[in-house]
Amino acid sequence: MNDAMIRLEHVSKTFPGSATDAVSDLSFEVPEGEILVLVGPSGCGKTTTLKMINRIIEPSSGVIWVAGVNAIETQPHELRRQIGYVIQQTGLFPHRTIAQNIATVPKLLGWERPRISARVEELIDLVGLDSDMANRYPGELSGGQQQRVGVARGLAADPPVLLMDEPFGAVDPIVRTRLQLELLDLQARVRKTIVFVTHDIDEAIQLGDRVAILNVGGVLEQIGTPEDILRVPANDFVAEFLGTDRGLKRLSLIKIHTVDLDPGPVVAPGTSLEEARAAAARYDVDWVGVGSPGRLDGWLHLAEVESAGQVTAADLRPFRSRINTSATLKEALDAIISTRAKVAAVFDGDHYLGMLTAERISAEITQ
Ligand SMILES: Nc1ncnc2c1ncn2[C@@H]1O[C@H](COP(=O)(O)OP(=O)(O)OP(=O)(O)O)[C@@H](O)[C@H]1O
Ligand SMILES: [Mg+2]
Repeated sequence: MNDAMIRLEHVSKTFPGSATDAVSDLSFEVPEGEILVLVGPSGCGKTTTLKMINRIIEPSSGVIWVAGVNAIETQPHELRRQIGYVIQQTGLFPHRTIAQNIATVPKLLGWERPRISARVEELIDLVGLDSDMANRYPGELSGGQQQRVGVARGLAADPPVLLMDEPFGAVDPIVRTRLQLELLDLQARVRKTIVFVTHDIDEAIQLGDRVAILNVGGVLEQIGTPEDILRVPANDFVAEFLGTDRGLKRLSLIKIHTVDLDPGPVVAPGTSLEEARAAAARYDVDWVGVGSPGRLDGWLHLAEVESAGQVTAADLRPFRSRINTSATLKEALDAIISTRAKVAAVFDGDHYLGMLTAERISAEITQ
């Protein structure tokens, strides 16, 4: 037994009366503190896999280990003490308040009332809800708020393992993106071992330390880091599932601060026309940036330098395509194609770091 928090060994599930497997010979492991995302089309066995981990569904064959013990040989209630569960479509109890919903598992475990209240208060804060929501009913919350309650309920007894079944499935893309960022932020603090289910490949790439791509029949087609899967899809199914914008998806995983920047055609005020022309020619552009080391004050058309006879600091045009070093190459590319200059000027706060061109970004994913 190694130190993976969750391990499936050749797990299969065939429902009674069904001719085909819901899950077929599935093996994977999730190290402690990792997020594994299970992704695949509807009916490919994602929910069934989660429910076998906490034994709501019994596997037909295979072995499942959770926190070093054989799940099949553990009492289900003992097992579920280790495992928080956030179910598809939130599954909140409509006639119980938010506080009562969150308190479900601690109550089952027989916690004292003061301990439960303190924990509920802590969780409401942890998932970013207002304390005055505690006594409302789920129907009195927005979709995004309800999903936060679902996450809080899953975390209530502070289990080391969290199973999340499309927890952000029912909200619009903007709220969904926010909930995803919140989950990553939360995970940085609580370090759970998470199996997260979605049918949305972008969500999988955004959240997964590793991603497992399942096909109908519960067949594992590929498992790996988002970078590895996007770089080398194992087969046509995976490639098609990743979509035609695979290159852009890869760019969205690369932060600007991890790549080398070009200094760009940047010259100091007072530079001669000849040198300005040479700087612009190196980048095949008809303009120069004006600044000094660590500074980029603006830019001039070469024609303006020609009429002035040299580079001046007056009447500089501002760079519209400024981008922060913490942004991604996808955002940089967007900045590049949205401006006439065809470069993105990269800053750390006010400090100028360098420029990115479309060629430079392309080289990053074709190297
Ligand atoms: N209780 C059950 N009895 C019989 N068949 C079932 C049962 N639960 C699920 N199935 C079947 O098992 C397969 C996998 O279902 P599962 O719910 O795990 O899919 P899923 O990947 O979660 O899909 P979705 O993305 O739609 O939630 C499906 O073909 C489904 O019809
Ligand atoms: Mg499902």
